[in-house]
Amino acid sequence: MSYIIEIEDLWFRYRGTKEYALKGVNMRIREGEFIVIMGPSGCGKTTLCYCLNGIIPHLIRGELRGKISVCNLNPAEHSVVEMSRYIGLVFQNPEMQLVTTSVYEEIAFALENLALPRKEIRRRVEEILTLTGLKGLENRSPFSLSGGEQQALAIASVLVLKPKVLILDEPTSQLDPWSTKLVADLIVKLRENLNMTIITIEHRMEWAAEHADRILIMDNGRIIVEGSPKDIFKTPEPVRTIGFRPPQVSEIAYRLQERGFKIPTVPITLPEAIELYEKILREGRRYGNSNN
Ligand SMILES: Nc1ncnc2c1ncn2[C@@H]1O[C@H](COP(=O)(O)OP(=O)(O)O)[C@@H](O)[C@H]1O
Ligand SMILES: [Mg+2]
Repeated sequence: MSYIIEIEDLWFRYRGTKEYALKGVNMRIREGEFIVIMGPSGCGKTTLCYCLNGIIPHLIRGELRGKISVCNLNPAEHSVVEMSRYIGLVFQNPEMQLVTTSVYEEIAFALENLALPRKEIRRRVEEILTLTGLKGLENRSPFSLSGGEQQALAIASVLVLKPKVLILDEPTSQLDPWSTKLVADLIVKLRENLNMTIITIEHRMEWAAEHADRILIMDNGRIIVEGSPKDIFKTPEPVRTIGFRPPQVSEIAYRLQERGFKIPTVPITLPEAIELYEKILREGRRYGNSNN
């Protein structure tokens, strides 16, 4: 079995600090997987992203130990620009990433640096504009866009290089609900349309439950639990440990279990929950609650 990302016993300590931000991280990701990472603030999520695309150790220094392989490359041995052709990183705050004066230029920027022919650049920018829903906004200033459109633009400017892996560091945490939906829907669309490995740091449980192939939970510099959403939400503990709440529909199942109902599997999405709870209402006795 080969993995597109493989991390073994990764330790990292920022220069001038005592405590390690990463304390023996192990992670293996297959091509095409959709991974959601969650964990409390300060647990090392962003640090892990930086190690994957080479910002650590090239631009941010410190003590780095362990093995990292991304598309069979060690990011420490290749420049960040070289790595960006394999792995694209979208930052939490889109404004940090926007550097030009128009949406078109923003997307074309990385391609111009590759010295591609004009026609080829235009073709690729058009393709990405359509994919990311930004068509029609080409001439607008990036700073005149809504937060969601800015984040879509940040994603577009990374995607135009056709990386094999896309990492999104809390892409919706700074956004209002409308913009959050725009960006979240775009991520799902990318997942369905491109044969891409996507890692996103995200704390919205319902969304993670519905879309992730695997959820990785980090705490204090380590990955403490990983599994499919079904495994992760089978009990409330994994996410409660890090101070989050499981999906509401799962919470109902845990409560019913506490009251003696035998729930065959804990539902994690709304349609699944509706089906199960309707059944329980219809045939309550079969699910073994003695009060029924
Ligand atoms: N540039 C830095 N210099 C020193 N310490 C840092 C730096 N960036 C982050 N840290 C520390 O590293 C730890 C992990 O931070 P980070 O990866 O940003 O966590 P998260 O993204 O999960 O919130 C935290 O304790 C944080 O204070
Ligand atoms: Mg962070």
